[in-house]
This record gives sequence, structure tokens and C-alpha cells, in this order.
Amino acid sequence: MPVRSSLPVRTAVRKAVVPAAGLGTRFLPATKATPKEMLPVVDKPAIQYVVEEAAGAGLDDVLMVTGRGKRAVEDHFDRAHELEEVLAAKGDDDRLATVRDLSRLARMHHVRQGAPLGLGHAVLRARDHVGREPFAVLLGDDLIDPRDALLTDMLAARTRFGGSVLALTEVDPAQTHLYGCAAVERTDEDGIVRVTGLVEKPAPGEAPSSYAVIGRYVLDPAVFEVLERTAPGRGGEIQLTDAIHELAGRADAAGGPVHAVVFRGRRYDTGDRASYLRAVVQLACGRPDLGPGFRSWLRGFAETLPGTELPTDVAAVPAATAATH
Ligand code: G1P
Repeated sequence: MPVRSSLPVRTAVRKAVVPAAGLGTRFLPATKATPKEMLPVVDKPAIQYVVEEAAGAGLDDVLMVTGRGKRAVEDHFDRAHELEEVLAAKGDDDRLATVRDLSRLARMHHVRQGAPLGLGHAVLRARDHVGREPFAVLLGDDLIDPRDALLTDMLAARTRFGGSVLALTEVDPAQTHLYGCAAVERTDEDGIVRVTGLVEKPAPGEAPSSYAVIGRYVLDPAVFEVLERTAPGRGGEIQLTDAIHELAGRADAAGGPVHAVVFRGRRYDTGDRASYLRAVVQLACGRPDLGPGFRSWLRGFAETLPGTELPTDVAAVPAATAATH
């Protein structure tokens, strides 16, 4: 007799939703006429890393939730016939392939958020497109190093556990107010925890743990019905975190349970200027083409920098050194 697997059959995840409607005010004036998703991280716009990550994990359908002024995002993943003809005529095959491959990464779709009512609201805008399938959400401010297959691990966890799967990283307790934070329980599997509750950007001292939600989610479609009636939460916005908190309380009922992969790999935050600069430097250092030359320049440059500790008596610092700060 054939041995039947005890694993339930689960619908495969095919669709990714990428919220990209934010105004990018933290990067003004760069983002006055350019979407923040298009800011280059080395030589690719930030959003391209995210779409490549989704495609790399086998998701061949990407829905961008955009807003006004995001045309460049749409154009970036579209065919560019004129440019392709110019590159073909020049015989510049490498660049031609780079440009063409972009439009073949995934089937791209776009929907507008309409009003900036929060991440939960942006995800709810994907409901018609996603339908009744599980789907992934990827936030563009978090870049995951392609060598660390976080999304693939999350999809595997969804196959094993069903429900929804988040990604958590341990942060300094002083940083928990910047994230959604999770109450968790151990599971029998190394690196996977059960999420029992979530708090969006907890006030100091009120975080359930130092496990912070990072911008990757694999969600059961039951989240839509919850989002539909989720009241505005932190910051007056409809929070995805609040809807997932409700799913986490459902255990084995529709939409639950919620598990999380604890991520210990390389993550680059491009959400504010200082972390964006670090992300550019780190990724440039790791690039096989640019890395060797850039790293050796960086080492030399670092040596010319003043010490990290500010002298206690700034007045004692020679004028020439002080001027370099
Ligand atoms: C969003 C989520 C938050 C999560 C974070 C990860 O916040 O609301 O729960 O921890 O992304 O980057 P945002 O950073 O968009 O304010």
C-alpha cells in the first residue's frame, strides 16, 4: 500500500505584494520628484532588490501598491523598447540583458492605495488581486542579503505549519519602539517560534520581547477579512500588526496559527538616511565587481577619519581636527 504523507496539502504561495505608496519624507529633497523606492542602492533601485528576492523565492506575480508620483516604479519593470534598440545597435549585450531581464523578473501588477491610511490598508488593497490564496508581503525598506534565503525558509514554514509566517530578528530592547514586537513560544523546530501576540511599536518597557518583526510576511488570506474591520491603531493608521495579532489568537481556526522564522542573517535597512548609507557601503563591499577596489579604498579612507569618541574637552582639540567633524 502506498504510504500517505501526514502533511496537509497546502496551496502554494505564488503572489507577492509590495507596498510602495509612502511619500519618502525622510529623504527629502531627493524624494520630491523621485519615488523613494527608486533611490539607488549601489546601482540598482531599492525596489529591484525586493522584486528579485520575491522572484528568487519562486513568486512569479508581484503586485505593487503605489500612489501618486510612482510612475518611475512602474516604468522600471516595464519593457523599454527605445533603450533596448539603442543598446542592441551598439552591441552592448551585457547592459541589454540587464535591462531586458528586469521586465522578465515577474508578472508585475499595480494598484493604487488611494489614501495613506497605513500598512494594513495598503495590504487590504491587494485583496481583489490575491483572492483566496496565501501570499507574501515584502516591505521595501528592509533588504535581505540574497545569500540568506529568508523568504524561502518562510515559505517552507508555511508548508509545514499552515497559517501565517512572520520574520523576527532580535533587537536591542532600546530599539523595540521602532518595530512590531512579538510574544513568542518555542517550537520543536530550531529557528522557528510560535507567535502568540504582537504589539505595534510598543512604548518603552512595554514590548513583549525583544523579537522585532521585519518586513517579510507570508500571510493567510484570512487576514483580509480581519483587516476589513481593523480599527486605526498606532499613529492613527490601520496596522497590519494588529490584524496578525488577531490571527495569532485564533490558534487552529481560520487564518491561524502564526509562526515566525527567527532571522540571523544579513539585513540592510534603507528606511532612514544613516541606515541607507550603511546599506550602500555594506552591499558595495560585498559586490564581486566593485567590492575589491571599494574595500581597499574604504580601509584607507577609514584611517583618515577622526576617532569615534568625542574628546571630553572639545576646546582642547586642535582647530584643524575639530573642523573635520
Ligand atoms: C512596519 C511595520 C512594523 C515592522 C516594520 C519592519 O513599520 O508596521 O511592525 O516592524 O515595518 O520594517 P514601518 O517601519 O513601516 O513604520
